[in-house]
Amino acid sequence: MRHPKKLGILVSGGGSNLQAVLDACAAGEINGKVVAVISSNPEAYALTRTKNSGVPAYIAALKNYASREARDAYILEILKKHEVDYVVLAGYLGILTEPLVKAFERRMINIHPALLPKFGGAGLHGLNVHKAVIAAGEKKSGATVHFVDLGIDSGEIIAQESLDVLPSDTPETLQARILSEIEHKLLVCVVKGLCEGSTVE
Ligand code: GRF
Repeated sequence: MRHPKKLGILVSGGGSNLQAVLDACAAGEINGKVVAVISSNPEAYALTRTKNSGVPAYIAALKNYASREARDAYILEILKKHEVDYVVLAGYLGILTEPLVKAFERRMINIHPALLPKFGGAGLHGLNVHKAVIAAGEKKSGATVHFVDLGIDSGEIIAQESLDVLPSDTPETLQARILSEIEHKLLVCVVKGLCEGSTVE
């Protein structure tokens, strides 16, 4: 087996997608190793998960920096220090600046809980996405993994999976079902592919 790829994960919240990647790496399903987790939120439960797994955790809260650029320079420094091959945005809430995006062109992915290009873009994160899907009367929703470019949720789509929106769904139930039934498996599948070189040109 080839040398495991080094993964850097950016998070802001619960970190269930992070956990799915950590578990798949530990199980040998992904030929990769999470070498650094960076959180924009000092309170994120994702940080507890990171510490429990023995991976170095870093906090990059915007309020501690003079600008977004300064914060992203710190993130880039960490990723370089750990010689990260691929960056995964796993529930990361924040807009990345150009030097960081360019440094990982086609090597940085994001997971979004809707069927992009619908229901993506500014303000469409967390429960807002699922509220918008239900309000629009959509019959299907799901999740998308895409490369990160300079737009919001606009990069090239790598993989997508859908489920039926049930008449009884609330934004909360839809969010929970997409997370547990689709997101974790979809993200692991794409990261596995990246680490094997199958999704990269
Ligand atoms: C997920 O729905 C993900 O698609 C979105 O934010 C949520 C993060 O969940 N970008 P978690 O922190 O991985 O549990």
